[in-house]
Amino acid sequence: MPVITTIADLKRLHKRRTPKMFYDYAESGSWTEQTFRENTSDFDQIRFKQRVAVDMTNRNTASQMIGQDVAMPVALAPVGLTGMQCADGEIKAARAAGKFGVPFTLSTMSICSIEDVAENTTNPFWFQVYTLKDDDFMKRLFDRARAAKCSAIVITLDLQIMGQRHKDLKNGLSAPPKFTAASIADLATKWGWGIEMLQTKRRFFGNIVGHAKGVTDPSSLASWIAEAFDHALDWERVAQLMKMWDGPVILKGIMDADDARKAAELGADAIIVSNHGGRQLDGALSSIRALPAIMDAVGDKVEVHLDSGIRSGQDVLKALAMGAKGTYIGRAFVNGLGAMGEKGVTSALEVIHKELDLTMALCGRRDVNKLDKDILLIPQDFEGRWQ
Ligand code: GLV
Repeated sequence: MPVITTIADLKRLHKRRTPKMFYDYAESGSWTEQTFRENTSDFDQIRFKQRVAVDMTNRNTASQMIGQDVAMPVALAPVGLTGMQCADGEIKAARAAGKFGVPFTLSTMSICSIEDVAENTTNPFWFQVYTLKDDDFMKRLFDRARAAKCSAIVITLDLQIMGQRHKDLKNGLSAPPKFTAASIADLATKWGWGIEMLQTKRRFFGNIVGHAKGVTDPSSLASWIAEAFDHALDWERVAQLMKMWDGPVILKGIMDADDARKAAELGADAIIVSNHGGRQLDGALSSIRALPAIMDAVGDKVEVHLDSGIRSGQDVLKALAMGAKGTYIGRAFVNGLGAMGEKGVTSALEVIHKELDLTMALCGRRDVNKLDKDILLIPQDFEGRWQ
């Protein structure tokens, strides 16, 4: 059993174990991948102030996100195709999150269905929806999430059209996949993954196939995906969708102060500062760089969460110190899942928790709920640079 001390350890194992097509799907960004890279490199530009002789006993990482208790303010982000990184991936990730005490967000584009995840886990999870044209289908998704007792809805606002990821095209990652000689040769070397996949019945988009109009089998999925997303989305439609859900609503994909104000006005319970992990608008700011302007605009009106670029507890601490009330990990938990299934996700959460706790202590702080920018050294031009 390898000793896991960082997310990078899990990423190496993920790459070794999982077909290239799915590993690349997770580990890539759109076009030149500039935003994908800067999501992490911008975190690295922020430094901590080392403080000494400060009482570091009785530390606390527990907090709340949208009023729900969390063992640390880190949720699992919605990630499509999670169940292809590892058989029954969504169920395994949700179980690990539930045991750890952090929220799990199920993507509409998951492999395991809402019902399946609910039946096979004990903790309520959050459900992510895209903004789709088919109103009946949207209503049914909300009804299904309600029946599954989901405790929040996350509405993704930045994916009506898809950013292009070159690797996905080259690897033939589509619905259904187009296998090339190279991908078949690669699959043959990932036998551990393959054996588990053959043993599960969960291999297609569980929330879509058999549920969306005209999608009775995986081969009809591609045309559904091409048609389904609502290119005409506007704030009025967002408001309509928010009304379809009677519990907490989180709006995901906010990168602009005006958009943040609009989301706050509509009464969102939280917004997620996110550029979709650098998978949509290449050339957009990193999310950590976008955070300060959004905090200034709506920090006192709505809970602000941050997604995209978090690979460590240090990153979590930086985002919290800059005002975020919660953070999300996507690739970091998927690396764990692809490496070692449920155990790997637990391991990812443990790594991040330990890093968060120890770094906070070395900064002279004891409580994640009482952080501020005083623990950070932010490059002088970091916040105002791109006005
Ligand atoms: C879907 O949300 C993706 O980024 O692939």
